[in-house]
Amino acid sequence: MLIVPGSASKKVAEDLSKLLNCGIVKVNIKEFADGERYVRLEDEVKDEDLIIIQNTYPDGNIIETFLLQDASADAGANSITLVIPYYGYGRQDRKFLDGEAVSARILAELLSSLSDAIILVDPHKQHILNFFKAPAYSCSANEEIAKYLSEKVDIILAPDKGAMERAKEIAKITNCDCDFLEKKRIDDRTVEIEPKEVEVDGKRVAIVDDIISTGGTMAKAVEEMKKQGAKWVCAACVHGLFVKDAIKKLERAGADEIVSTDSVYSRFSKVSVAPAIVKKLKELMG
Ligand code: R5P
Repeated sequence: MLIVPGSASKKVAEDLSKLLNCGIVKVNIKEFADGERYVRLEDEVKDEDLIIIQNTYPDGNIIETFLLQDASADAGANSITLVIPYYGYGRQDRKFLDGEAVSARILAELLSSLSDAIILVDPHKQHILNFFKAPAYSCSANEEIAKYLSEKVDIILAPDKGAMERAKEIAKITNCDCDFLEKKRIDDRTVEIEPKEVEVDGKRVAIVDDIISTGGTMAKAVEEMKKQGAKWVCAACVHGLFVKDAIKKLERAGADEIVSTDSVYSRFSKVSVAPAIVKKLKELMG
């Protein structure tokens, strides 16, 4: 078994290679002057079981994933397992308005063509797995996030009801109370949080979401918890995109700590997704 690292997921690839005790294929990835990508596998992979690791975010990495799949198949790989630490376009998982593309579906269909199996880390919604035409599985970084938060927090909060399952799972492991906040999205850039009855006064709180993108959702939640007297508030997520001024927003809102996994690598990547991926791979290998 060999790991094929995509340019967005080098750190996860290295962690996986250590945990699985297997080699990493040397890959030459370049961008031409016009922005098009180029991929070449520089090691022999014929008859090998390959694990390609690459995010489908931002857009250029989607093309790179196709190129990595093509190069792997063309070089005679025995099997290709595609691991996507952060599945970009997962949030458009259905038609919200007539005429919209279901981005998560078409991307899944296209990625399926040269994959024997696909693993997503904490996809935005579980039903996304059904869009793939190849066997698709998910794994979760919840356990690793819980280990990180353990002993640091008294309450785990979900920023909305939909995120409650994750909060519950983490709260169970950390042995904390858990609750959710009510979120009202006004438009693309504005989110309002309606206070819920949570007793956070004097408590250490972690708010856990799947994605922090612009930081709007999380900043509102942090601000609200601070207003309600929380002693310490941690803004935590699986996929930390932190676009534009997200970090400033979180800091201004009063976040005492910002934590994400390394699915999208940043200075806040304090939790590794590799153990969850390894667990799933071992499960699949039997
Ligand atoms: C929404 O359904 C997601 O779970 C996140 O709450 C959302 O994507 C966060 O986005 P932002 O950081 O832009 O508010």
